[in-house]
Amino acid sequence: MTPAPTSSAAELTATLSSGRSLPLLGFGTYQLHGESGQQAIGWAVDAGIRHFDTATSYENEGDLGLALARSGVPRGELFLTSKLPLRCIGREREALERTLQQLQIERLDLWLMHWPVEGPGLVPSWEAMIQLRDAGLVADIGVSNFAVGQIDQIATATGVPPVVNQIRWNPFLYDADVARELAVRDVLISAYTPLRRARLDDAVLLAVASETGATPAQVIVRWHLRRSWSILFRSSARDRIAQNIDVDHVELTDEQMVRLDGRAGTYHFD
Ligand SMILES: NC(=O)c1ccc[n+]([C@@H]2O[C@H](COP(=O)([O-])OP(=O)(O)OC[C@H]3O[C@@H](n4cnc5c(N)ncnc54)[C@H](OP(=O)(O)O)[C@@H]3O)[C@@H](O)[C@H]2O)c1
Repeated sequence: MTPAPTSSAAELTATLSSGRSLPLLGFGTYQLHGESGQQAIGWAVDAGIRHFDTATSYENEGDLGLALARSGVPRGELFLTSKLPLRCIGREREALERTLQQLQIERLDLWLMHWPVEGPGLVPSWEAMIQLRDAGLVADIGVSNFAVGQIDQIATATGVPPVVNQIRWNPFLYDADVARELAVRDVLISAYTPLRRARLDDAVLLAVASETGATPAQVIVRWHLRRSWSILFRSSARDRIAQNIDVDHVELTDEQMVRLDGRAGTYHFD
């Protein structure tokens, strides 16, 4: 029997510029493979998560497809994101058809250019993605790891802006300029490595966690949801998956949000 969802936060959505909905809380699958990976995905489903993020380069789309098929959750209740790798530029249709076959689906919800193509190949590849969207193989297309200028380049050349930019994001990586520039373009931020690239022992984060009766990870999740940013997190531990999204009781005041924003740039990663 499928356990009851641990959080109603998993039901929060953003409306993309296309008009379609994207569940804000998503489960990342980087480095999840085989039986243990499928088990973690199953636990995320049990916790109530319906948005799953993978990529051709993770080489686990098949595991995700199997785990979701086993879950019995109807396809229409799931939101699946995958990504076009740089090595498949020029072979976009082949890459997307393989993704669909691995995921055991007929249409993907969101397909991202994983990294910006350097040089003249960028716009043709985006045009190929647009054609595949128009052909019905994917509902929405977006980008990942793009600078605002690169988004403008593809949007100006084709008239089709991406609906999402999936980037490294959390209070420590927060950039008010990037947030504002993407918001005015109606490009949703989807945050990756929100926990792995955070300092969960940071004094301010710990203070806010203590004030709100939450864990540092729950505070980070709520910080994203308060701004209606998509957040993709990952865990291979059943209790952490459920706990990270159990944020209904975690309220952050404006003052706490500002203190968390103030952690931006307080330290640097490799
Ligand atoms: N577009 C891109 O270029 C790109 C790049 C990287 C990632 N992504 C996507 O973004 C997703 C999320 O990034 P990520 O995989 O780095 O996930 P993450 O959630 O930032 O970090 C995962 C790590 O955090 C640990 N963790 C989870 N909950 C915790 C908690 N409550 N306390 C302490 N540690 C905790 C996990 O350990 P346990 O497993 O032990 O819980 C795991 O080691 C990826 O899976 C992938 O789908 C995209």
